Amino acid sequence: MLKPNLYDLPEIFRDFYQQDNLVGASGQLHGLGSGSGSTLNNLLIINSLFHDRIPLRTLEIGFCHGVSGLLLLSLHELYDKGGTHHAIDPFQSTAWDSVGKLQVNHWNLDNRFTLYEDFSCHVLSKLCLEKKKYDLIYIDGSHLFEDVFVDLYYSLRLLEDGGVVLFDDSTDPHVAKVLTFIESNYDEFLKPLDLVKYRGNRIFDKIKYKAAAKLKFSQLTGYEKQSDKYLRDWRVKLERF
Ligand SMILES: C[S@@+](CC[C@H](N)C(=O)[O-])C[C@H]1O[C@@H](n2cnc3c(N)ncnc32)[C@H](O)[C@@H]1O
Repeated sequence: MLKPNLYDLPEIFRDFYQQDNLVGASGQLHGLGSGSGSTLNNLLIINSLFHDRIPLRTLEIGFCHGVSGLLLLSLHELYDKGGTHHAIDPFQSTAWDSVGKLQVNHWNLDNRFTLYEDFSCHVLSKLCLEKKKYDLIYIDGSHLFEDVFVDLYYSLRLLEDGGVVLFDDSTDPHVAKVLTFIESNYDEFLKPLDLVKYRGNRIFDKIKYKAAAKLKFSQLTGYEKQSDKYLRDWRVKLERF
């Protein structure tokens, strides 16, 4: 029996998400919950945000078993506007037994998908050199401060004006430190996005999530890119963060 809030998600994704086990390239079975995929809550927010903005070029850092990737791909498929999804993960064929990649193939979504199997610091720099642009970037790779910071650095350059960057696990101290950097030093480039409006229609949920956002307890945090002038004057004061 389908959970009521799953009805909001695209059909391909619902079918994917309801599988108990996913088969890897080795033939081994992997439980969908065993790969630290994005939470249902995050997925529902990303889903509503997508319907609101219809980003055509999406990028995610951290692909794992492909949960958030499959959602974004099935949304591109639903809209059928030529949308594409790029994902970065150095461990897809090793630690994750190619599960995500095989699922993309299983649901016939390959034509919209590119996977870069390398560390994000290498891939993002290459994408910048290639002058790629994205409308939505989901940062959910390594959660170490230095890696998240590098992901932020390049994401700002790769985002289209008005594009959105989302951070998973915002309460993790490493991620949270990057977010305080943004809010104290990068506020002219990245404006906090109110994600509460994407958290369903129940008033109780709205109040709960508004309070969580105020107290910085939200798992997902988003910003909208303000302008393409992201190069700062070298004399700018560093605000404490
Ligand atoms: C939390 S999981 C991603 C979950 C995924 N977004 C989903 O919803 O299914 C984190 C992923 O980041 C990947 N990862 C770790 N270090 C990375 C790095 N430096 N660059 C890119 N990905 C990295 C891991 O292999 C892992 O698959």
